[in-house]
Amino acid sequence: MLDFNVHFPTRIRFGRGKIEDLGKEILCYGNKVLLVYGGGSIKRSGLYDQVLQIFRDNNITHVELSGVQPNPRISSVRQGVELCKKHEVHLVLAVGGGSSIDCAKIIAAGAGYDGDAWDFFTRKAKINYALPIGTVLTLAATGSEMNANAVISNDDTKEKLGTGSPVLIPRFSILDPEYSFTVPPEQTASGTVDIMSHIFEQYFSLTPETFIQDRLAEAMLKTCIHYGPIAIAQPDNYEARANLMWTGSLALNGLLGAGKRTDWATHDIEHEISALYDVTHGLGLAVLTPYWMQYVLDEQTAPRLAEYARNVWEIEEKDNIIAARAGIKKTADFFKSMNLARSLKEIGVEAEYLAEMAKKATSQGSLGAFRKLEYQDVLNILQAAYGGDM
Ligand code: NZQ
Ligand code: ZN
Repeated sequence: MLDFNVHFPTRIRFGRGKIEDLGKEILCYGNKVLLVYGGGSIKRSGLYDQVLQIFRDNNITHVELSGVQPNPRISSVRQGVELCKKHEVHLVLAVGGGSSIDCAKIIAAGAGYDGDAWDFFTRKAKINYALPIGTVLTLAATGSEMNANAVISNDDTKEKLGTGSPVLIPRFSILDPEYSFTVPPEQTASGTVDIMSHIFEQYFSLTPETFIQDRLAEAMLKTCIHYGPIAIAQPDNYEARANLMWTGSLALNGLLGAGKRTDWATHDIEHEISALYDVTHGLGLAVLTPYWMQYVLDEQTAPRLAEYARNVWEIEEKDNIIAARAGIKKTADFFKSMNLARSLKEIGVEAEYLAEMAKKATSQGSLGAFRKLEYQDVLNILQAAYGGDM
């Protein structure tokens, strides 16, 4: 195990009715809020009205940024920054999924910066300061509710880039699984895959002797495999939604990657796809992941891929390569069982852009750590995933 530092500063309020703590949480930081949300799901579910009632009951004033899109745009961030500056906001509150939360994070950072918020992504500026951020989560997927990261798209440059800073970690997150009852089946499946992918990116590592991280990761993968299909079949199954929501937070809050060299190649490749085609992040991951696994399988990586097959899928096979292949097939079949697309072609990607995506993905150097990927490797994975014959 390698040395590491971790810090989990987000106060989690988990369970039914925990929204009742929202006013108290906000008032720790002030009484002027920027409320950030998406395209209307929180209005349809009644959560928006609940939040506004809490504001009134606690004498909290607010301004709003609505219409944050999935794959949130820098244009929304810019609008939010303007609102924060104009109204001297004390806290940015995201109510929604990862897109609203990521947007809120960069707004909070932009509020204390004189330049353009896109500078945080081009590395022209570093995030050293942000307004306090709070979240009310409605979708189990990204882990943004408990981590330091944000991913933002830029329509002008056709880029989707990530950044991070400890000051972006939400001060509090309200996790009421009932708010995710209304998440539609495909979004539930995509969220489940996103959680699993975060686990894979940290589990598939060559760092030796990380027993504790690896067993935690396997338990989380089994949780997704068990509860993902239940949440799809019974959207209001509280225990399924609760287990997925908590796994989503734990999968990307620093716990699993501590003490390990982590990979992230599949995420880097997927971000190129959703930058160009605006596809659902988890859907892109569902298509890519089995092909990434298949491509990186070699003598060096086989023991870990076989361990995954044995411990997560209970495959009884002594030969590492054969066991690994069986685990990869199980993974692809599981994603298919949740009715997710199996090829890039199916989700609208055009063959002529594969090379461009591979080039952009590797423009800063090779990807991954479990097995390093250069331009041609990425192109090979994209081409295999394009046809989707697994
Ligand atoms: O916009 P609304 O109307 O709210 O609808 C959303 C949206 O259409 C809907 N939704 C959310 N909660 C719902 C609901 N519909 C019904 N009932 C509910 N309770 O779901 C759609 C997708 O929402 P979004 O926030 O985009 O989904 P997700 O949480 O998967 O976030 C995806 C974004 O996060 C980034 C992704 O790249 C993508 O841009 N990521 C962020 C990470 C991070 N900050 O750590 C890591 C991830 O790897 C990922 O890259
Ligand atoms: Zn992800």
